Parts: sequence; structure tokens; C-alpha cells
Amino acid sequence: MRLNSMRRKHIVFVVVTVFLSWNAIMYYVLMSRHSKKMIPRDMELDNLDVGIQNQLRRNLALLAKLQGIRNKTEMSLKTNKPERMVLPDRKGDGSDMNKVVLPILMIACDRVTVSRSLDLLIKYRTTKERFPIIVSQDCAHKPTADVIQKYVVSDNIKHIKHPNLTNIELNKKDKKFLGYYKIARHYKWALNQIFLKFNYSAVIIVEDDLDISPDFFEYFSATYPILTSDPSVWCVSAWNDNGKGGMVSDDPELLYRSDFFPGLGWMMERKIWLEIGPKWPVTFWDDWMRHQDQRKERVCIRPEICRTSTFGKKGVSRGLYFDKHLKHIKLNDQFVAFTQKNLSYLMKENYDPWFTHMVYETPEVTVAEVMSGSKKHLKALRVTYTTKEQFKATAKKLGIMDDFKAGVPRVAYRGVVSFVFKGQRIYFAPKPDWQKYDIKWK
Ligand code: UD1
Ligand code: MN
Repeated sequence: MRLNSMRRKHIVFVVVTVFLSWNAIMYYVLMSRHSKKMIPRDMELDNLDVGIQNQLRRNLALLAKLQGIRNKTEMSLKTNKPERMVLPDRKGDGSDMNKVVLPILMIACDRVTVSRSLDLLIKYRTTKERFPIIVSQDCAHKPTADVIQKYVVSDNIKHIKHPNLTNIELNKKDKKFLGYYKIARHYKWALNQIFLKFNYSAVIIVEDDLDISPDFFEYFSATYPILTSDPSVWCVSAWNDNGKGGMVSDDPELLYRSDFFPGLGWMMERKIWLEIGPKWPVTFWDDWMRHQDQRKERVCIRPEICRTSTFGKKGVSRGLYFDKHLKHIKLNDQFVAFTQKNLSYLMKENYDPWFTHMVYETPEVTVAEVMSGSKKHLKALRVTYTTKEQFKATAKKLGIMDDFKAGVPRVAYRGVVSFVFKGQRIYFAPKPDWQKYDIKWK
């Protein structure tokens, strides 16, 4: 019994010992495993950490996106253009627009330097099929005819000669304007050849003393769809009357609408010629086009930086104007791939709300403030004019053209003349409630 009890005690002891040891071992094993494994709180923290890192990555991506948008907006503000919009007529059948033949009509007379203009036209045109050159020569000047004739052979240009060289009878007072009468007569004949004889649907008109920019053809190709699809646009011109060096921005992409007909390298459609050709004037054809009876509120597209410049110091008008103004015009020297850009912002319905907003949102300052540079920190400034005298006086101070044709200041759109003064964009503008030009402003 005693032994039995002793054995039982021993067995109990062993069992308890084994049990305790087992527990101890299990506790140790589990604890050591736990200490290696995450405890739930750590796991939560770790998940949180991963979440934060993911969020951070998303924020960075968003930031990059926002920076992209900001850069884009800044670019569009810098180039003064509204958001790009789709040009309905160009979508889909843009290829047809790109196939339209745009003949170049070169008006020549008695200057052998016509070769300088022709060389550039031939250098920059892409194909002679799309841009055939027709030189119309007045004056029957033999040396000039000989120069032109060389291009007929070498570059397949067409040389047509104005047949009417008769004298134009003028009274004493008008005699000094004989040249302008001859020019108008020649233009009428030449444009009739283009549209009535050769049946082209549009024309680009240049004169024999014009240099052109490398993107001259690109500019007219790209704006042709605007000319045909916006009934308020009746011409595209290569010229900015305030385009002197230092008075334009560096951005060669900038284009505008202009109520002023600039001429000097310009494109028009056949339908316009059919409208104005029959009533073509005997003299001062360009001023006649600027008159409201012809213009009828229609506008031209014009560039910030000219796509033509003139080297014709000796011509029908006096060389004084050339030395004072024309020779300072800056000719664009960069190629802008205009046909790759969406130019639909130039369409009236897109342009007008944007332009008006941009001009009248610009802070208004005095001429004195513009000239002193006290508002240099602002990107653009607006100067207001209310009277003709005020326009002229201010224009003189700022160095822009101060004349009007049919009440329209040069370059103006809705009365606003846009130019650069000492690196700062200036909108020289009438009051926001402006309605129309005053034909009495001369
Ligand atoms: C200015 C304009 C010009 C416009 C003309 C008529 C400028 C820089 N030029 O001529 O765009 O067409 O007024 O208002 O503002 N010509 C003839 N027959 C002649 C004499 C000239 O066809 O008897 C031709 C010339 O070859 C040239 C054009 O007419 O292509 C203009 O003649 P130009 O001598 O250059 O006169 P601008 O004073 O420049
Ligand atoms: Mn000229």
C-alpha cells in the first residue's frame, strides 16, 4: 500500500512534471514564435504605412498632372490664345483643304529686283502644283520682262503681260497720283485673269518688292480653311502694320483678327473677287477695300510677326515712308507648322468672347504709367482712348501707327490695337461698351 502510494505519488509527480514541462515548452515555443511573428497592432500599423505610401504616390502623380496643366495654361496665356477648339470644316476632310491650289499672283512692273521676290517664293514653296506662280507684268519694261522670262524656263512660272498700257488722262491736281491709277488698273486685269480666265478658287497676291518668311506658304495653307468657313473673314494677310522690331512679341505663332485690311501679301477667295471686281476703283485700290461699302464689317487674319517685308524703297509712294517705317518691319525667320495646329480659335464665335474678356480683364493704366515702367510687374496693360485726338496723341507717344482708314485704326480689332511696348503687352482700347467705328475719324 505504502509502496503503491509511493508509486502513485511518483507517477503523479512525473505526470505533473511532464505536464508542467510541456506547458513550459509550449509557452516558450509559442512566445518565441509570437515575438518573431507580427502582433495584430503591428500589422495594423504596417497596413497604414503601406496605405500612406500609396496615397503619397497618388498625390505625387496628381501634383505632376496639375503641374502639367499649369504649364499648359501658362503657355496658352503666354501665347495669348484661348483653349484650342475644333474647327468643324477641317475635321474629317482636312485633306481636301490641303489639296486646294493656291496660286501666287506676283504684281510686277519695271523693277528687275523682282528676282529677289521670285527666288524666295521658289525657295519656300513646297510644290509648284499646289502653289503655281503667275507673274503679271505691267509697264512693258524689257529688262524686267527678261528677268521674269528666265523663271518661266527654269521654274515653270507663268508670265502674263498687262495689255492695256494706254495713258490715263488726269487733271493737274491728280497727276501726281498717276502711279496709283496704273496699279489699280493692273490689279483689276490681273485678278480677272486669275479668277475668270484661269478659274482658280483663291489667290495669294504679292508685289515685286516683297520678301517672304520661311513659313509663308504654311501660314496661308493653314488659314485657308478659316477663310472659307468663317463668313466674317474675307482675307488673310501676312502683314502687321505695327510689326516693327521691338514692338512685337517673340512668339511667331500668334495670329489675330483685324478689322483693318493690311494688304502686302494677302489671300482672298474667288467669291470676294466676283463681288468687288465689277466695281473695282480706278485708283487707291487698298484704301477703297478698307471702306465700309466694300469691307462690310468683314475682317482679315493677320500675324503678330510679319510674313512679308518690303525692300521697295523706290516705288510709287515716296521713300520717306519707307525709311521712317517700312524698313523697320520685322520679318519672321522661324518656321511655324501652322497646318499642324488647330486655328479654330480665330473663328468669330470663338475669338470674340475670348478676346473681349482678355482685353477688358487687363488692368487699366495711364500712358504715363506704361512709359515709366511703374507697372512692369504686370503681364499686360490696357490704355483707354475715347477721342480721335487722344488716340493720335497716345499712338505717337507709344510709337504705333496713328492713322485711320474709314475710321479704323491700323491693326485694330473691335477698336483694340494690340502691340508690345518695352517687352510688355499693351491693349490700346476704347471703353468696354464700344459699338462701332466712327467713319469721321481721319
Ligand atoms: C503702295 C502699297 C501697295 C499698293 C499700292 C497701291 C505699300 C508698302 N505698298 O505701293 O501695296 O498696291 O500702294 O495703293 O504700302 N505697279 C504696277 N504698275 C505701275 C506701277 C507699279 O503694276 O505702273 C506695281 C508694282 O510692280 C508693285 C505694286 O504695283 O507690285 C506697287 O507698286 P510700288 O511701286 O511698290 O508702290 P508702293 O508705294 O509700294
Ligand atoms: Mn511697294
